[in-house]
Amino acid sequence: MDKQQIKNFLEQNKDRFLEELFGLIKIPSVSADPSFKGDVRNAAEYIVGNLLASGADHAEICETAGHPIVYGEKIVDPKKPTVLVYGHYDVQPADPYDLWDTPPFEPVIRDEKIYARGSCDDKGQMFMHVKAMETMNSLGELPCNIKFIIEGEEEVGSDNLEIYIRENKDKLKADVILISDTTIIDNNIPSLTVGLRGLSYVEVEVTGPNRDLHSGVYGGAVDNPINVLCTMIDQLRDENNRITIPHFYDKVIEFSDEERNELNKAPFELDAYKKDLDINEVAGEKGYTTLERTGIRPTLDVNGIWGGYIGEGAKTVLPSKAYAKISMRLVRNQSSDEITKLFTDYFKQIAPPSVRVKVTPHHGGQPALTPTDSIAYKAASKAYEETWGTKPIPTMDGGSIPIVALFSEALQVDTVLMGFGLDSDAIHSPNEHYGLFNFYRGIETIPLFHKHFAQMVVSGD
Ligand code: BES
Ligand code: MN
Ligand code: MN
Repeated sequence: MDKQQIKNFLEQNKDRFLEELFGLIKIPSVSADPSFKGDVRNAAEYIVGNLLASGADHAEICETAGHPIVYGEKIVDPKKPTVLVYGHYDVQPADPYDLWDTPPFEPVIRDEKIYARGSCDDKGQMFMHVKAMETMNSLGELPCNIKFIIEGEEEVGSDNLEIYIRENKDKLKADVILISDTTIIDNNIPSLTVGLRGLSYVEVEVTGPNRDLHSGVYGGAVDNPINVLCTMIDQLRDENNRITIPHFYDKVIEFSDEERNELNKAPFELDAYKKDLDINEVAGEKGYTTLERTGIRPTLDVNGIWGGYIGEGAKTVLPSKAYAKISMRLVRNQSSDEITKLFTDYFKQIAPPSVRVKVTPHHGGQPALTPTDSIAYKAASKAYEETWGTKPIPTMDGGSIPIVALFSEALQVDTVLMGFGLDSDAIHSPNEHYGLFNFYRGIETIPLFHKHFAQMVVSGD
């Protein structure tokens, strides 16, 4: 199996591959919203069907307490190495719908890109692996056994997958975990992700008076929970954008100057970055570059804030309650549970006596680092080099994939993050898209990973 054979097969089948992906994208598998429960299951069933049609010798739906997990496998020879492919078929809610140029679950091609919710994150990227298996299968050559574990709850924290992994270690036994759910720097600058941030996510509720009040009758005499919440949020970061929660940074292992230099060598155009986002200035922790701020530094962000009257016109009201959803991105060595606890203690401590606060933890996830000296990384690097003609650059991504750290802990094998998306693909936003170039480049590169990985495992490097 060489690059040209893969290209030829892809050329003959590219339209069908795309149609099959569209079939999956059309199913609105939004994991966060219970009203889509049936669709989430339909998406799982669609994948089972497509895995079988693509040459898997077994594929099944695995029930969980939440949305189902899809498991599939093709075992060609127990003596060959096994690649465990992880991906997720659930997607983020498409809201706000009116900001989409075309409906989120009706995929269309515009400017050589697939526009739809999940096109990049992660249906488009996950599906490349299914089509790569079909390609290898049709070329009569599978260098490795393949197992698939495709979950429906990544966007809501992967709690049930964690249980499934702990209970099915033998079934999932593999020599490497392969994931396409991250980004490359640019279509001309391939990269491999070697770091993901962790996450601690909380919801806070601030309660003042026992009912909504007339803001004229009571205003000025009774603390307003929205005002209080804003002041409290303001106290969570200082003027240098450092987080003020006591002990927040205690466990962070600072990157050495050498590591930072290495990280900052990655191509990055500040002007293009600002232009893409339509901002005049970037902002963040003092003393760090933008790449460092998203790659190796922790953050605290309000993701949503509400309370009081937000309908048409004006209503004079001093609300009884205010709410916010707050996320903290975590880096090497920080623990999600510990940070959630530190946040909770501090948030309660800074609340004035005029209000009561409640903090509810949501899902979290540990940060993850993947080694660059593993056979898996070298095989991935060689595969990218073969299709792109240049060596991929190792990068630290700011997003989180909670299951990555758990995989390495529970299964004791290396993970390789072979992403093909772009930061500008608008994942989680309206008008999410995924380049046809990226979809096809993935299908082309993945079989080469299998080939190089198998060869390197046998030769020992
Ligand atoms: N695929 C993303 C994570 C990602 C995006 C990693 C871009 C690297 C680059 C994933 O689906 C995701 O959105 N994860 C969530 C975490 C989850 C617990 C909701 C995130 O990062 O917010
Ligand atoms: Mn994803
Ligand atoms: Mn996502």
